[in-house]
Amino acid sequence: MRVVLFTGKGGVGKTTLAAATAALLARSGRKALVVSTDPAHSLGDALEADLGGEPVELEGGLHAAHIDTRALLDDSWGPLQGHLRTLLAGAGVDELVADELTVLPGVEDLLALGEVRRAAETGLWDVVVVDCGPTAETLRLLGLPEAISGYLERLFPAHRRAVRGMLAGLSGAGRDAAPAWERTVGALDALAGQLRGLREMLGDHTTTSIRLVLTPERVVVAETRRTLTALALHGLRVDGLVVNRVVPGPPPSLRGPAARWLRERHTEQQAVLGELGGLGDVELRTVHHTAAEPTGVPALLEIARSLYGDDDPAAPGRAGPPLLRVRRTAGTGTSRDSEFELLLRLPGAADGPLDLARVGDELAVGVGGVRRMVTLPSALQRCTVTAARLQDDDLCVVFAPDPAVWVR
Ligand SMILES: Nc1ncnc2c1ncn2[C@@H]1O[C@H](COP(=O)(O)OP(=O)(O)O)[C@@H](O)[C@H]1O
Ligand SMILES: [Mg+2]
Repeated sequence: MRVVLFTGKGGVGKTTLAAATAALLARSGRKALVVSTDPAHSLGDALEADLGGEPVELEGGLHAAHIDTRALLDDSWGPLQGHLRTLLAGAGVDELVADELTVLPGVEDLLALGEVRRAAETGLWDVVVVDCGPTAETLRLLGLPEAISGYLERLFPAHRRAVRGMLAGLSGAGRDAAPAWERTVGALDALAGQLRGLREMLGDHTTTSIRLVLTPERVVVAETRRTLTALALHGLRVDGLVVNRVVPGPPPSLRGPAARWLRERHTEQQAVLGELGGLGDVELRTVHHTAAEPTGVPALLEIARSLYGDDDPAAPGRAGPPLLRVRRTAGTGTSRDSEFELLLRLPGAADGPLDLARVGDELAVGVGGVRRMVTLPSALQRCTVTAARLQDDDLCVVFAPDPAVWVR
């Protein structure tokens, strides 16, 4: 079973490529489900079919559905939102402010991904292809339980332990507390559990492929680097960049304004492709700009064939080295002169402000406005940070044993 997720900005071609990929998978004999988490519901347009919440088979092996995000909103996020509002109001936070604090754009998308996970776990499908929203934003919300509990800890310091216990997955945390608090903790606990499972699925490279769709314009190079960094911070590796709407170069004999336009466009796009090729080790594929809108299975299949050639569309792509590595650079065993390096792969980190802080057993890493807590491997928890530097795409943090807690 594999999950192949297409993400990227609006209008770049996510829906088209997700549908095309599923169509080709079905042709190769796989039982494929393509689902859209986009409330705009354009998957039906791409496939030229009427879709609903339940998967329908469009042709041999090809199934499609739209996930109804509004229904999801009501039974999981809704109650939590209500409890949070009550808690905040009880703590003297103005009602309007409380409302604002509890509205989170993108939550629908995240909950829809939860549905994808359920579909993947039914065992009914060989491949689930997902037409996502602009997921960099969405996936940031994977850190939502931590963010909410961070606020709760600050607002209600007395319940710090309950919040901590809840995040660690300890049931019964907060049992001694007031009912409003208890309900909030319960709902937050449920959300945290759901997101934990989701993060596991999305972060597991053997199960999930994340493909970033883009169009070859100058601005996208910097943007793509930022997206890769933001996702990397959440432990998510993009294993394919799909550059859509690439125009052909006209034959040299062709003259006139149209040929000139096309030639310039082509030259510029090729330059962008060159720059994208230099972004880490992520696999890069291109799709040409078709003359007619590619809708309906035959047109989608044509696009998919040009995209994948003879390759398996569902195979894990090249995603570069793991995101987090630890290596010893001095000493052996438990010797006091040991030194370790923690390498965090952060493509594009050099572009933005980077901040780093040690918080207990964790390291807070902030890159370009995205912050993530990284739990340190146990050996490093007994060390102190002695240096940190950026090495190409890696953030390298150096650790030396803390004599107070290091094994003697
Ligand atoms: N390679 C392509 N050539 C020509 N038109 C395309 C191509 N890919 C997508 N389109 C068209 O562009 C529009 C936006 O594509 P869509 O897949 O809906 O983008 P997204 O889901 O990212 O918003 C659609 O009308 C689609 O048919
Ligand atoms: Mg779309």
